[in-house]
Amino acid sequence: MSGERLDPPLYYERHIFVCTNERPAGHPRGCCEAGAATKLRNYMKARAKELGIPSARVNNAGCLDRCELGPTLVVYPEGVWYGYRTTEDMDEILTVHIAGGGRVERLMLKPGDDDRAKAALAEARAAAKAAAAAG
Ligand code: FES
Repeated sequence: MSGERLDPPLYYERHIFVCTNERPAGHPRGCCEAGAATKLRNYMKARAKELGIPSARVNNAGCLDRCELGPTLVVYPEGVWYGYRTTEDMDEILTVHIAGGGRVERLMLKPGDDDRAKAALAEARAAAKAAAAAG
């Protein structure tokens, strides 16, 4: 074995997977669709075309298992995750990361974010339960 990689060249320079999973209201993990993920994914796809970024593919994705931080998306091949809320966030990801090769640090999901979000949700649920029990 030579150790040489046989992978073909990338088909897309960047592949963006946008979670558009929907769960019933009140689900303990929430879902990205509650944050208008489909609308924002459609915006991002159209905006990428408007900006002339032909080498990026913006796909719908099922649950990416980072629901508590949603809505979320991930950019490959870098494997950089973002949490976004607005069309302005999508514009910034497209112009800074996808077109410019930089990173939108304020939106990047980092190690430990998932545990902190889950702990905050558990705390909020416990507080709501205690408030309901107190009458
Ligand atoms: S619902 Fe979007 S990551 Fe799970």
